[in-house]
Amino acid sequence: MIDLHCHILPGLDDGPSEMVESLQMADIAVRDGITAIIATPHAYPDVFYPRVDEVEQAADRLRDGLKTQGLTIAIGIGRDAHLVPELLGNLEAGRVQTLNGSRYVLTEPPEFFTGADLQDQLFRLRQGGYIPVITHPERYAMFVEDPSLVQVLAEQGNFFQVTAGSLMGRFGHEAQDFSRWMALHHLLHVVASDAHGPRHRAPVLREAHRVLEEWVGAGDAAVIRENARAVWENRELPAFVSVGPGRGFFHRLKLRFRRPPGRPGTGLG
Ligand SMILES: [Fe+2]
Repeated sequence: MIDLHCHILPGLDDGPSEMVESLQMADIAVRDGITAIIATPHAYPDVFYPRVDEVEQAADRLRDGLKTQGLTIAIGIGRDAHLVPELLGNLEAGRVQTLNGSRYVLTEPPEFFTGADLQDQLFRLRQGGYIPVITHPERYAMFVEDPSLVQVLAEQGNFFQVTAGSLMGRFGHEAQDFSRWMALHHLLHVVASDAHGPRHRAPVLREAHRVLEEWVGAGDAAVIRENARAVWENRELPAFVSVGPGRGFFHRLKLRFRRPPGRPGTGLG
């Protein structure tokens, strides 16, 4: 398995502060069956915005540490890039890395947005030759309350990455239900850990993929697993074999979601 969203590099954002924790995270990932991680520190203006060379140096130090520890796991570089109007310019100027050097850009929408603004910014990224991979839609009230926006964005050529913990209910029933709805409608393209440490939100994917298999069957779950590899290798994402659960789109929009108390907070992903 490949984890393409993981805050594993030390001292750059709200991930681990020390290399020893980064190595613990890698050990947990290896035991879970993860063979490659894309390290994705935040690129969030005025909050966490480590320079490209700082990220590369931290990745090199992690690779050295892994070798010393005898841990076999590949480390690529990417960013958890906040979707701001300057993102395209920063990508083009080399100030923000794509996922493992591919055309795919991991991007986190702001906490509040309009559908039109989101579509406009993502359109500009695609016009620039990038393929947006939108982080954890299941943790945004804006998407959960308007599932048709997820459908529209997917049809426009954007992909969605759901957090592994959401599949197991770690972010509440609403995020879990929405993840399931997305999976059943082929709108869940990639599962990633979005891990931030060895204890808090650890880098594990196996249990999430088991849940996915229960929801959509082994075939579609394998496609979702393969999608992460396709991003890592800068290939087209494999298509799903079937075309959905066999009901019309408008019927699906009527699916109701249980509402937990309060709105799902996004915080920093
Ligand atoms: Fe993240």
